[in-house]
Amino acid sequence: MEFTASTANLLKIKADCLVLATGKELSDTAKSLDENLGGTVSRLIKSGDFTGKAAESCVVQGAQGNFPRIVLLGIDGALSAQKIIATVAAGAKSVLSTPSAKVLWVADALGNDAEWRAAIIARNTVTGAYQYKGTGKKPTPKKLKSTVVWCPTKSAANATKIGLNYGSAVGSGMNTARQLGNLPANICTPNYLASEAKKLAKGQAKLTTSIVKEAEMKALKMGSLLSVSAGSVEPGNLIVMNYKGTNSKTKPIVLVGKAVTFDTGGISLKPGRGMDEMKFDMCGGASVFGVMSTLLETELPINVIGIVPAVENMPAGNATKPGDVVTSMSGQTIEILNTDAEGRLILCDALTYAGRFKPDTVIDIATLTGAVIGALGKVTSGLLSNDDNLANDLLNSGTKSGDRAWRLPLWEEYDKQIKSNFADMANIGGEAGTITAACFLSRFTKSYKWAHLDIAGTAWMSGPQKGATGRPVPMLMEYIRSKVVSD
Ligand code: BES
Ligand code: MN
Ligand code: ZN
Repeated sequence: MEFTASTANLLKIKADCLVLATGKELSDTAKSLDENLGGTVSRLIKSGDFTGKAAESCVVQGAQGNFPRIVLLGIDGALSAQKIIATVAAGAKSVLSTPSAKVLWVADALGNDAEWRAAIIARNTVTGAYQYKGTGKKPTPKKLKSTVVWCPTKSAANATKIGLNYGSAVGSGMNTARQLGNLPANICTPNYLASEAKKLAKGQAKLTTSIVKEAEMKALKMGSLLSVSAGSVEPGNLIVMNYKGTNSKTKPIVLVGKAVTFDTGGISLKPGRGMDEMKFDMCGGASVFGVMSTLLETELPINVIGIVPAVENMPAGNATKPGDVVTSMSGQTIEILNTDAEGRLILCDALTYAGRFKPDTVIDIATLTGAVIGALGKVTSGLLSNDDNLANDLLNSGTKSGDRAWRLPLWEEYDKQIKSNFADMANIGGEAGTITAACFLSRFTKSYKWAHLDIAGTAWMSGPQKGATGRPVPMLMEYIRSKVVSD
């Protein structure tokens, strides 16, 4: 997929499809295009087929002039960033549903700055073109090869170019995460993820991958992580991906992504209904892969370390039982009251391990609790943090990228709920499951700035559209990128 910015005379550009963002009142640019199109746009507005209202989209086949098809995107009314993104996504989907090889976007009327707009166009074009591959019949490749974004000025074109490169890299990072998420658990095992991490680093000067295997985990005393993989025939792996984009004195941002390649619940077995969706319980880890691949594509001058504890949670004769007590790498003991609260058990050791990199910031990403869906639905990720600046930065990155989070508190009153009579803590609390889970994690993150993203509601969609979303790669990349620009 090729993305370019063009300042050429609009009436000289030919494409298989035109995407025009416009309201009811045509701008001068839109007017001249309308003339070239034999008045198609104004006719559609007159007839009421296209009202120009924000987020409305309308596909026209068989137009005349330079473009055999047009996609109109409405802009009238309140256009929040969120709405612009939804509009662009709908536009990109419409384009991709046609056999167009080349598309021209005339979308400056969408507002916001040119770079941001271009990033959103490129990202949604790349993610719109994603097709699951790996099992079943081969998908037919999309026809779209070239996306041209028209710019009124040279400076807009420069900003647009930057945005297009960034946005398409974020889009392919999201697709990387989606593909790993969508793969079934009999293919996407902890060993599969380890080999994918090695593959990602192959021939890349900026990325190195290493795998901590179970024998080494034992030596490191990761008793909590190991208690989760105990019941599975698949050995657990702690995958470490080290992206060095700048000098090694710069402290890294460390991302820790939960990768339970299948979560049966263990001895605290889950009910059967919808259990297949627990193949998505590695989407936190997958998002770390997505960020790494975007970093390789953008070559951002920053250091980021991705840590992915990858395990399968299974019941077995040698599986961990409710009431078992294990010792984590930190030395703190944990009474495992529910083997289905396994995510925090692998994360706590990975978070302790993260400390060895002297991190600037640690962010963990996990499909951790069903409770976050009760609180925030499938719209927003849960955010909990021990640092207000970090929390605000992440919230802003979410808003800018349209991949939003909402903060929940980490107060002592909640932390009390994980008291245990037999260990330093229990692995479950009472109410407010998302918060008590984060309170548990916070006991392992005292030595650095830390944020936790609970993506149980946002990492995948259920129903007819079942599939991984690639979230929160856009938010994480926006955050990482803001640290390059501003520091
Ligand atoms: N992976 C699940 C969380 C989950 C559940 C994500 C449903 C998406 C949809 C996690 O490991 C889990 O099982 N959590 C338990 C915790 C409980 C036992 C305290 C939950 O949320 O029910
Ligand atoms: Mn579970
Ligand atoms: Zn889980």
